[in-house]
Amino acid sequence: MAHFAALAGLGSYLPPRLVTNAELAARFDTSDEWITSRTGIRTRHWATPGVATSDLAVEAGHRALKSADLPLEPGAVDAVVLATTTPDHPCPATAPQVAARLGLGTIAAYDIAAVCSGFLYALAVASAQIAAGQARRVLVIGAETYSTILNPADRTTSVIFGDGAGAVVLSATPDADRPGVVLGVELGSDGSQQDLIIIPGGGSRERATPGSPDPQGRYFAMQGKKVFAEAVTRMGDSASALLDRVGWPVESLDHLVGHQANIRILAALAQRLGIDEERAVVNVDRVGNTSAASIPLALSDAAAAGTLTAGSRVLLTAFGGGLTWGAAVLTWPHLNVA
Ligand code: UT7
Repeated sequence: MAHFAALAGLGSYLPPRLVTNAELAARFDTSDEWITSRTGIRTRHWATPGVATSDLAVEAGHRALKSADLPLEPGAVDAVVLATTTPDHPCPATAPQVAARLGLGTIAAYDIAAVCSGFLYALAVASAQIAAGQARRVLVIGAETYSTILNPADRTTSVIFGDGAGAVVLSATPDADRPGVVLGVELGSDGSQQDLIIIPGGGSRERATPGSPDPQGRYFAMQGKKVFAEAVTRMGDSASALLDRVGWPVESLDHLVGHQANIRILAALAQRLGIDEERAVVNVDRVGNTSAASIPLALSDAAAAGTLTAGSRVLLTAFGGGLTWGAAVLTWPHLNVA
């Protein structure tokens, strides 16, 4: 019997510390006016020292399981997939710890590293595990603590990125037409442009030596202008290719949930796709760019606000370091949002 992966639970978590543009303007050579006009961001949340990505992932995962009416016990899900750029440690992966702390037992648990496209990559592999009959239910989490890798000397990245986590439960169904089924996924990459978004140190390119490595290499770096142009083109083209493949005319879409990197990118993306800007879900103003957590956080906010309603056609698309990008489509299901 064929299996399809359907969205069955959704949850999110933001660390409590709210960072305003005014606070950043007191610390960097920047202003509320520059940040709002160039990015649309007004606030973001940053984890306090000592709080790691797994802490946010556990909270969001817990809420998604609750939303799916699943207990915190072995057997609730068959796998945990965690998309992150900011794992608790370079080794091991963070997902096994999250699975253990949620009490989910000794199940498959692994991380996905695709930067801001990570959640869509994780959604793709989790859906494929379900389609292959390897799992009945999978907890898919996007979680980040970018505040731990921001360069304090870089005002541009410091004002853009925020911390947070979002999670979904995917559940197997034999019914391809059931609302919530992930109807299609499109993924892509261009490693020839890896330098546009990079943490240069801390990997095998920089061999571990006695004495600590240059802390400068541990910071996140981005060439914003080039990334902006690539983001609009890649998200637009992958979304168009997917819509063609599943046979959804662009006019039939109810909501565009794009990676929340910059309000101007979301506007340019809507324009490129020929979608009314009103249909674009926006929470970048409140949470900033939360990388792999961006899509599930936007979904969670929009569902809680009543914007995403059962039966609406939803297009997800993301772009990030790698370069990587992707898109997915589904019809929104009835969900309790936690
Ligand atoms: O998550 C992965 C995907 N990421 C993205 O999609 C991010 C894409 N890029 C962007 O969103 C935008 O390129 C940024 C928001 C990063 C930058 O906006 P921009 O309009 O492309 O600005 P810019 O880099 O061209 O810089 C314009 C000016 C420069 O000054 P000069 O050279 O014109 O004198 C910058 O030095 O703005 C200056 N600037 C700032 N000024 C005040 C850069 N950052 C700041 C700042 N405050 N925080």
